Amino acid sequence: MIRIFPSLRFTSLLSAAKPLCSVACSSSPVREPPQRASFAEAKSAPASNSLSITPKSPLFLRTPSHATPLSEVWKWHDWAKDLASSVEVSSSNSEYSLDSAILLRELKWLIEDSIVDDQLVIHKREIANDSESVKLRASLEELYDLWRQRIEKRRPFQYVVGCEHWRDLVLCVEEGVLIPRPETELIVDMVEELVTRDDWFKNGVWADLGTGSGAIAIGVAKVLGGRGRVIATDLSPVAIAVAGNNVQRYSLQGMIEVREGSWFEPLKDVEGKLVGLVSNPPYIPSDDIPGLQAEVGRHEPKLALDGGIDGTDSLIQLCHGASRMLKRGGFFAFETNGEKQSKMIVDYMTSDHQNSFSDLKIVSDFAGIGRFVTGFRL
Ligand SMILES: C[S@@+](CC[C@H](N)C(=O)[O-])C[C@H]1O[C@@H](n2cnc3c(N)ncnc32)[C@H](O)[C@@H]1O
Repeated sequence: MIRIFPSLRFTSLLSAAKPLCSVACSSSPVREPPQRASFAEAKSAPASNSLSITPKSPLFLRTPSHATPLSEVWKWHDWAKDLASSVEVSSSNSEYSLDSAILLRELKWLIEDSIVDDQLVIHKREIANDSESVKLRASLEELYDLWRQRIEKRRPFQYVVGCEHWRDLVLCVEEGVLIPRPETELIVDMVEELVTRDDWFKNGVWADLGTGSGAIAIGVAKVLGGRGRVIATDLSPVAIAVAGNNVQRYSLQGMIEVREGSWFEPLKDVEGKLVGLVSNPPYIPSDDIPGLQAEVGRHEPKLALDGGIDGTDSLIQLCHGASRMLKRGGFFAFETNGEKQSKMIVDYMTSDHQNSFSDLKIVSDFAGIGRFVTGFRL
């Protein structure tokens, strides 16, 4: 089975197929090959502010400690279905309306993540005995509350369940951290292609700037296959805590170091030493933020979205740093808002850094929109 989330407005218009959470999530993530100790020993603990933040536990990882009569769970399910069905494509509202069909699909996933015997609730109601109890990973009261938050507060489904399926990963997410988007998976695909044909890239140091949940860093570390290493940075202490937690869940502490700070500031020790630099920075023009889909604009962190007047503030900083940070021959890939921004960045790199990069390219996303700028350090 797959999970297909509707795309969110600030990325491309495409949806992506995901593995089902409760299948992939009921056990620990797949273990990686043995790691190199030196990197973990060097500096694996996140710095400063993030240390006091304990990432939330997603529903699927919680202990199913709430035995609840099936009849009560069915009552909740009927109520939740009615609430989902009652929303209608109501308005020309700039924040976009909810879609009952999508909500009903999410409700099924919520049940799969939170109820051990989910089949008794979803499919086998006729044959089940209503005096039975089922084990829930959250109290029924919390499930009522979560579903209300989803519909009435437009809280993104991924924050409700506390995870997102991304590539072959299931990443914990929560408020304060961007929900990784399907198109960003292409950055890891590009890195995979590169390291598969050239070992130089496989054995070197990579950086993922503005790592958020750690999605790209973890994806890159996995395609490096236990050989190179990755430094993941973010300015947000919540992102640092969540990324650190995801790195640990995938047992990648030996390969990924999470560092807190602004862009290149925490990377002084690896100046000129990176073989790869990847980033999905904030790139929404400030004036577009109020018009974003409610789930995004009301709940996702502005720090992850707002790219300044034309959306390129962070991208320009990354361009500046790339020439300083990369080794000769090193690769970079930056995600942008789309065609127009990609062209601006290529133009900028061609005119202001003309002797620094070669093979500058705009790479399209799943929808054929020029989404990424890539190139190599001369
Ligand atoms: C669009 S989000 C991308 C998150 C993640 N890489 C992903 O693709 O899901 C941008 C990230 O950049 C971080 N960020 C914003 N300003 C930053 C800065 N000055 N230095 C480092 N990270 C920053 C945000 O906290 C956020 O996590």
